[in-house]
Amino acid sequence: MNTDEARKRIQQLTKELHQHNYRYYVLHDPSISDYEFDLLLKELEKLEEEHPHLADPNSPTKRVGGDITDKFEKVKHRFPMLSLSNSYSKEDIIEWENRVKKQVEGQIEYVLELKYDGVAISITYQNGELVRAVTRGDGETGEEITANVRTIRSIPLLLQGNEYPEDFDIRGEIFFPLENFAALNRRREEAGEELYANPRNTASGTLKNQDSRLVAERGLDCLLYSVYAENLPFDKHFESFSHAKAWGFKAPDADKKYIAKAMDIEGIMDFINYWDEHRHTLPFEIDGIVIKVNDYNQQDELGMTAKSPRWAIAYKFKAEAALTRLNEITYQVGRTGAITPVANLEPVLLAGTTVKRASLHNADQIERLDIREGDYVYVEKGGEIIPKVTGVELGKRPADSKPHAYITECPECGSELVRNEGEAQHYCPNTAGCPPQIMGRIEHFISRKAMNIDGLGPETVEQLWEAGLVENSASLYKLTKEDVLPLERMAERSAEKLVEGIEQSKAQSFERVLFALGIRYVGETVAKKLARHFKNIDALREASHEELVAVDEIGDRIAESVIGYFEDERNRQIVENLRASGLQFEIEEGEGPQSNALEGKKFVVSGVFIKFSRNEIKAAIEQHGGQNVGSISSKTDYVLAGENMGPKKLQKAQDLNIPVISEDDFIEMIGDRGSGIGDRGSVIGDR
Ligand code: IVH
Repeated sequence: MNTDEARKRIQQLTKELHQHNYRYYVLHDPSISDYEFDLLLKELEKLEEEHPHLADPNSPTKRVGGDITDKFEKVKHRFPMLSLSNSYSKEDIIEWENRVKKQVEGQIEYVLELKYDGVAISITYQNGELVRAVTRGDGETGEEITANVRTIRSIPLLLQGNEYPEDFDIRGEIFFPLENFAALNRRREEAGEELYANPRNTASGTLKNQDSRLVAERGLDCLLYSVYAENLPFDKHFESFSHAKAWGFKAPDADKKYIAKAMDIEGIMDFINYWDEHRHTLPFEIDGIVIKVNDYNQQDELGMTAKSPRWAIAYKFKAEAALTRLNEITYQVGRTGAITPVANLEPVLLAGTTVKRASLHNADQIERLDIREGDYVYVEKGGEIIPKVTGVELGKRPADSKPHAYITECPECGSELVRNEGEAQHYCPNTAGCPPQIMGRIEHFISRKAMNIDGLGPETVEQLWEAGLVENSASLYKLTKEDVLPLERMAERSAEKLVEGIEQSKAQSFERVLFALGIRYVGETVAKKLARHFKNIDALREASHEELVAVDEIGDRIAESVIGYFEDERNRQIVENLRASGLQFEIEEGEGPQSNALEGKKFVVSGVFIKFSRNEIKAAIEQHGGQNVGSISSKTDYVLAGENMGPKKLQKAQDLNIPVISEDDFIEMIGDRGSGIGDRGSVIGDR
């Protein structure tokens, strides 16, 4: 292809991909499959690589990130970014509305919006192209984070149509959808990393990351709330949303009541009361309601105070808190030895659920809030998975109360706890002998994303441990049916299944085995990277710090953790025992990514297959960059159906509009690309 042809094709692909992206992320109405989208994107990526001078900063390929920002430049806002005056009482809102009515002639219309709890952003578009995205900063000057903002799929890089102002700023809030936040924490938990406490701070931290690829992976979203330009083609705030929508932005949805109009204080209060009750059903966090005067002329009449406009006000919800007695502080020991203090509470109703336990995070938190057993404490629910204690009602403190003494020894094994410099958490250093750590590691080892051992769950692990049948993951491979039969509630068939499941797990790939070992900070993705780079466990064990950090995305922390793991003789012994039992400790010829054809796609495999076994199909999915998931949800990309797939599953896939593909469709998906499922016997064996 010559340069001219390439330019034309790049332009065409860019246009098409922007359009598909818009349909998917803004309209939620895709017209092509994800697979077809990926093919187009890959084609564009390839062309851009071959003709770098033709690559555009707003290319759809920028969505996946890759650009690194060394230093976020300071940029002055063309229109200052003001803040809203806040109020916490309905009386304040009534007073504000009365003031507005006094100052402005005629009928006043109000626009009611959600107050998104995220990070404010101002994005500049010139001639229909995104040119700059800047944080609020001090309101006058912010920091430019354009490369990171380009990865947020619902923010258009090129606008739709041609009715937009030539040069304008649009502002909104970038936030973490709760589902994506929970998924991030699940990944961190699997990797033995500390969990993020709340979606807003994590969104803020993510946006300041220098690597836009990381931002892309996290799945932030954005909703817009105002447009700024010298001459706007409308004179009412509410109309700005329908225009912005037509230009390609994701505007709040009136059908879902995310935005509404009101003519009086009753209408305003209805909206506030509705969301005070329903805010926990939203897929993102809000911390209040914003009320704005609709008409721009009336806004001008009202003007501003020093910091905020008089034509708008925020009503902030009180954080939903409950007061209850803290009966006892207990401690949990995680699989990495991390100690988490837990408040055991007198059960109390909070935001629709009964709360009995809340996190106390760490020793500093207990000391800072001076939390004591017997105190009455405030419990709040944020975006966190479990509620947290936010304060103590000192007026209710018993006279004989004593400050809480944080434990110095492990509650499970009695070892003296350690706390590394710069870390908030205490650890039990008895990795090899502390029961919850050992059991936690075995539970991780057998878990679905690791060795995925059928017929073995956490309760059985506990039974096996208590019966003295296992001391680490390697002991599992020595178990016989006769060993496990005497366990309580263990039937003949279950015992057979368990031993079979263990036997079958020997076929799991090296990258899964590596993840299963439970090396701190080595999550699923890192395990894949390390396995593919070093190819076998011996090379990984011998790798120096320099060699480790030279691998894409491996930093000092992971490198130190890997080295530390292999320095421990006991770990080396476990690895040797596992190897002797026949587990995979090297990448097989033909293993590893054979293509990126299924990159990021989630598959549910169901039913019986004719040409290949289920495990072979599953392995092929991973080898082409896809992911196997257990059950169908809105996040599933494809259901790969064999014969006898259950009718319920089929119905669910249809209800969620998820494509159901056959074995042959699948082979075509990966085989057509020359990546060889059919022509490479090692992936899916010849039968
Ligand atoms: S309007 C001059 N609308 O709340 C008014 N702000 O102090 C400009 N926020 O950090 C803001 N949701 O980022 C407006 N629907 C909404 C909002 C909203 C959240 C944030 C905004 C700013 C703070 C206002």
